[in-house]
Amino acid sequence: MAETRILGIETSCDETAAAVVEDGRHILSNVIASQIELHAQYGGVFPEMASRAHIEAIVPVIQKAMSEAHLGWDDLDGIAVTYGPGLVGSLLVGVNTAKGLAAGRGLPLVGVNHLEAHIYAHWLETGSEGSAPADLTFPLLALIVSGGHTELALMRDHSDYVYLGGTLDDAAGEAFDKVGRLLGLGYPGGPAIERAAEQGDPNLFPLPRAWMEGTYDFSFSGIKTAVARLVQAHGGEPRGRMVADLAASFQAAVVDVLAGKAAAAAEEYQATAILLCGGVSANQTLRTVVRERAAVPVYTPALILCTDNAAMVAACGHHRFLSGVRAGWDLDVEPGLRLT
Ligand code: KG4
Ligand code: ZN
Repeated sequence: MAETRILGIETSCDETAAAVVEDGRHILSNVIASQIELHAQYGGVFPEMASRAHIEAIVPVIQKAMSEAHLGWDDLDGIAVTYGPGLVGSLLVGVNTAKGLAAGRGLPLVGVNHLEAHIYAHWLETGSEGSAPADLTFPLLALIVSGGHTELALMRDHSDYVYLGGTLDDAAGEAFDKVGRLLGLGYPGGPAIERAAEQGDPNLFPLPRAWMEGTYDFSFSGIKTAVARLVQAHGGEPRGRMVADLAASFQAAVVDVLAGKAAAAAEEYQATAILLCGGVSANQTLRTVVRERAAVPVYTPALILCTDNAAMVAACGHHRFLSGVRAGWDLDVEPGLRLT
């Protein structure tokens, strides 16, 4: 069978990304223009600034993805674009650009759910340590942990998900970002907390774990509030050792709950493996602790594929195209789209 080449486009939050993927597995190019520096000065993503930055970056990013893949437009078989969930103004830039290209070049278009795309990062071949083999067997347990989401889902087949639980308040990444701010570590908080935690004692502050017994739901706002109280109790501006110990204790508490629930769900639903997905899955402590607790293999994408990128969108789009899905010209953005 001839190879299928899909151009993926991703603009749901603060990365403008385009990638070309062959057969849903081989990355021919993966271009990401990050807006982190722009948003760092506000301590988080500023939605209107994000949409405007996407408008400036989208065409050069797509041109770069095409030239790095050494392909012409006639070599493509389709375009896949994230249509939700995410920021409405940001999503609109990607969706409208994708429609224009598809109409102009006569290419089929498919809309991709960003959460599902994070799961499909596991179908991309990178050869990185801990990444999934080509022959994954269903059912699989996906733990999606990103800036906007924390979800446990059972994947019974391609496009067939059972939602098991999710966060009732802050997403895991959001909690990392908020605590990062409390500790004066800047934005994004996740990688900064991970670095600070290396020098800290994870057992120094026994922070509360919300186990939400009998469910696969999560709650992280209590841990965040507990950190805020400790910061206040120590004068409001933590430094040095205190930052490291709080970062390590916070990370340990979040990882404890995520790992415990993912391992339990994999066992209850007899999943063949656990797929860690989304920006927080870049966290080494999370990777290690889930592997310690789980009775099945735990797969982790290459670091560059954990945070937002378009290769995962193209991989997911590939499977959509294979199952015959096509978007019409009325494809609209869905900021609150869920995994169903
Ligand atoms: O998947 P992603 O790039 O965007 C969303 O779809 O939300 O995830 C971004 C989130 C941010 O909250 C960031 O702080 C977090 O992932 N993150 C991490 C790490 N790297 C990124 N959290 C913990 N440890 C990390 N190493
Ligand atoms: Zn994401």
